Amino acid sequence: MLELLMLIILVGVLVGYFLFLTDTILGSNDLATSTRACEKIFDIIQAHAPFGAICYDLGCARGFFAMSLQKRIPHLRVYGIDNHRIRIILAKIRGWVHQSPTVFMRGDFFAINLSEADVVYAYLLKELMPELEKKLREELKAGAVIITNTSFFPYWEPIETIVTYPAEERFEKLFIYKKGEPHQALFS
Ligand SMILES: C[S@@+](CC[C@H](N)C(=O)[O-])C[C@H]1O[C@@H](n2cnc3c(N)ncnc32)[C@H](O)[C@@H]1O
Repeated sequence: MLELLMLIILVGVLVGYFLFLTDTILGSNDLATSTRACEKIFDIIQAHAPFGAICYDLGCARGFFAMSLQKRIPHLRVYGIDNHRIRIILAKIRGWVHQSPTVFMRGDFFAINLSEADVVYAYLLKELMPELEKKLREELKAGAVIITNTSFFPYWEPIETIVTYPAEERFEKLFIYKKGEPHQALFS
């Protein structure tokens, strides 16, 4: 019986590792947010989000960002959504292993209603940003905060821009937007 259990666990680990490797090798645009950017983003969310705030990671990949956010600010209700079958399975496994309350969903974030969201995070290809801008402008409630990483909205002016690596400014930037409240810095 113990041998069978060990065998099941071993096969599970090997399958998970195989999926992880193939996704890493074949997958495109699955970069996780850097640790340095995570720290800045968590500070912004911590300062801004009310207790129990609803946060979405649009395109959560394997769940690294969403679960780190949940760990850092446990009272948040964190949702990660991704349309990539393997990545979302790996995110769900990660969530289960860590017994995290983060909810991972497979799907197209353009198809879900974000009107309840307090915070939206998006680290996506720039081609997706015009359509996402339109959706968030139409759907989000006033006061909702949006943080984008590297890619930015074409028409919406950010209330703040944060350079995470000053020595290499082009490498990574964070753009902070607030629905319905133009030009009011979250941090001075
Ligand atoms: C750069 S990764 C984001 C990583 C994650 N946010 C993090 O920081 O750890 C972008 C992800 O967006 C997902 N994606 C792109 N378009 C999507 C869509 N329309 N709906 C859901 N997921 C999408 C991709 O599958 C990819 O995993």
